[in-house]
Amino acid sequence: MKNILITGGAGFIGSHVVRLFVNKYPHYNIFNLDALTYAGNLANLADIENAPNYTFLKADICDFDAICRIFSQYSIDGVIHLAAESHVDRSIKDPFAFARTNVLGTLSLLQAARLSWGEDVAYKRFYHISTDEVYGALELDSPQPPAPYGREFFREDTAYAPHSPYSASKASSDHFVRAFHDTYGLPIVISNCSNNYGPYQFPEKLIPLFINNICTGKPLPVYGRGENVRDWLYVVDHARAIDRIFHRGTTGSTYNIGGCNEWKNIDLVKLLIRTVDRLLGRPQGSSDHLITYVSDRAGHDLRYAIDSSKLQRELGWQPSLQFEEGLEITVKWYLENTAWLQNITSGDYERYYHDMYANR
Ligand code: NAD
Ligand code: TYD
Repeated sequence: MKNILITGGAGFIGSHVVRLFVNKYPHYNIFNLDALTYAGNLANLADIENAPNYTFLKADICDFDAICRIFSQYSIDGVIHLAAESHVDRSIKDPFAFARTNVLGTLSLLQAARLSWGEDVAYKRFYHISTDEVYGALELDSPQPPAPYGREFFREDTAYAPHSPYSASKASSDHFVRAFHDTYGLPIVISNCSNNYGPYQFPEKLIPLFINNICTGKPLPVYGRGENVRDWLYVVDHARAIDRIFHRGTTGSTYNIGGCNEWKNIDLVKLLIRTVDRLLGRPQGSSDHLITYVSDRAGHDLRYAIDSSKLQRELGWQPSLQFEEGLEITVKWYLENTAWLQNITSGDYERYYHDMYANR
């Protein structure tokens, strides 16, 4: 494979995947296709934007004709599809945007790949990046020993039971990807990952939002009682898993990716407060008063937890960082990159990059 199309590469996880592939595979041509929505920020890729094997393409995955032209013009051999609307709270306010991009956009890419590749799929791959949220929610106290079909952790064969418009749209896209494999023989692979954290995450998600609010002394809106549990994975470890699955995963297969690292939201918030205050040289406990319990998110999934043993066993992947270590790196990054954060909170990034590509 030579010409790789990465969609959503200007977003959080996509930018880490683009960086990894551009640096690790100089013999690949990496095409970053992104519509530059509010979540797309080319500043995330400033360090590699002039690399000879990197090209940015501004396009909307829902624009089927444009996607077909790109497949033909650049002879795309492989797709790593991350472009999506990704924030649950936004999906509750505007579910149509999620159906459009996540379902119809994915369908448009699948159809373009199928038409472009025809029967000649020997060295082709369509890799769809999905989420553990498609599986619904787990109980806090799982039965011991584990139930026979695994309600304790999400496994690859756990039945889909999405609750939010976001997870419903991702579940739907997963079904379309599998349908294209089963119906047309498209060489697909899917992974479902747990919550990511790390540098370049848009500050509407829990960890970067709360780091920013602790720094600036703003309230920390904890939904409900803060009892919900998430399984956190450092974003670079997700990118490493994507690299491995893209190159070595079995066609038609699904792989779950997780950090084996469950945190109750309120415990994570307290750890974040301790870490930020310590790194800013503030006395311990100075930001505790910022914790503000607010109304719960509608349909709030109680617990996510991934069983990633298939990926570990079959492809030898392991997370490389302990959570405390990854969180320390992450907090330091946000403290050292205040300009990046200010560009987003002020809206300057949209004015700069989005205007630059407005008429291309
Ligand atoms: P993000 O919101 O940070 O980035 C999404 C990117 O997609 C942005 O650059 C945006 O401009 C682009 N995009 C949106 N709509 C588009 C369209 N119509 N056409 C082209 N580009 C478009 O998202 P993220 O957190 O990096 O997530 C990336 C992928 O990983 C998503 O598919 C998401 O479902 C999945 N995922 C995310 C997490 C997580 O914790 N963030 C966990 C598991 C899976
Ligand atoms: P989030 O980062 O939005 O990821 P996801 O909804 O995909 O898991 O939220 C992580 C957890 O933090 C989730 O249980 C909701 C909670 N949360 C808050 O309590 N307050 C907030 O302001 C946000 C954004 C999230």
